[in-house]
Amino acid sequence: MQIVHSLDPLRNAVATLRQVGTQAGTRAGTVALVPTMGALHDGHLTLVREARRQADAVVVSIFVNPLQFGANEDLDAYPRQLERDSRLLEAEGVDLLWAPTVEVMYPDGFASSIAVAGVSEGLCGGARPGHFDGVATVVCKLFNQVLPDLALFGEKDWQQLAVIRRMARDLDLTRPAADSILAVPTVREADGLAMSSRNAYLSAPDRARAAALPAAMRTAIAAIEAGEDVAAALARLEADLAKGGFGSVDYAQLRDARSLEPLDARSQAPMRLLVAARIGGTRLIDNMAVAPA
Ligand code: PAF
Repeated sequence: MQIVHSLDPLRNAVATLRQVGTQAGTRAGTVALVPTMGALHDGHLTLVREARRQADAVVVSIFVNPLQFGANEDLDAYPRQLERDSRLLEAEGVDLLWAPTVEVMYPDGFASSIAVAGVSEGLCGGARPGHFDGVATVVCKLFNQVLPDLALFGEKDWQQLAVIRRMARDLDLTRPAADSILAVPTVREADGLAMSSRNAYLSAPDRARAAALPAAMRTAIAAIEAGEDVAAALARLEADLAKGGFGSVDYAQLRDARSLEPLDARSQAPMRLLVAARIGGTRLIDNMAVAPA
């Protein structure tokens, strides 16, 4: 696996991967990109494995993006483990690791930003102002730097996925095109907790209690699918989280799965239950499908 930290070597390495793929493979040298912020876990590695199945060559990016962290968030504390991460990626057969420095990504004088209205608003966009502008900006740059045929993201960050797809459609991106932005289902621990780099912040007792989140969500979904009033099911979910040891709930909402429009009743289109809640100072997010009426 090649590791590159600046743009010219990246472009040369991607061009070589395409040529090799074109000569050797049957798929015309396709390149898949898996964007990450490192601190890799099985959720990321599942994206990498899916990328391997879908493309001739796999590029993974690791960049802890300062633009998507708010002033009071955990940018400095965010785990940085490039050596460990690169060993994991090498073992998965990744071809190229793109690990730009902050100076390469945002050189002096950098002044642009991408704001995606609508899907960025509310939910994590409400709780973390500017977060999705930072995500859209860095992902657009990563796409333009690597020019992949497809890119893979986890469903764990459902709103992020909606923002990135909207951006790709609105800006007529072709590498990758919006319909080549693939969603991979959330990978969960044995007790149901969604895998996340932030789970590492949980103390042992909070880690054990955190499984209350997916459990409360499953109970709420079963109630909504059985026809219970949505507001009542969501109120019980919040009460279950408080009982389970969560300190506060940023949001617990039923939304249209694609447009992310808020729903106060079960609809006939695919829906998503999205929750963000805090336990012992750590903010956890999760989302699950709700079957249409
Ligand atoms: O999901 C993440 O890890 C980040 O938000 C992403 C997409 C790599 C952009 O920094």
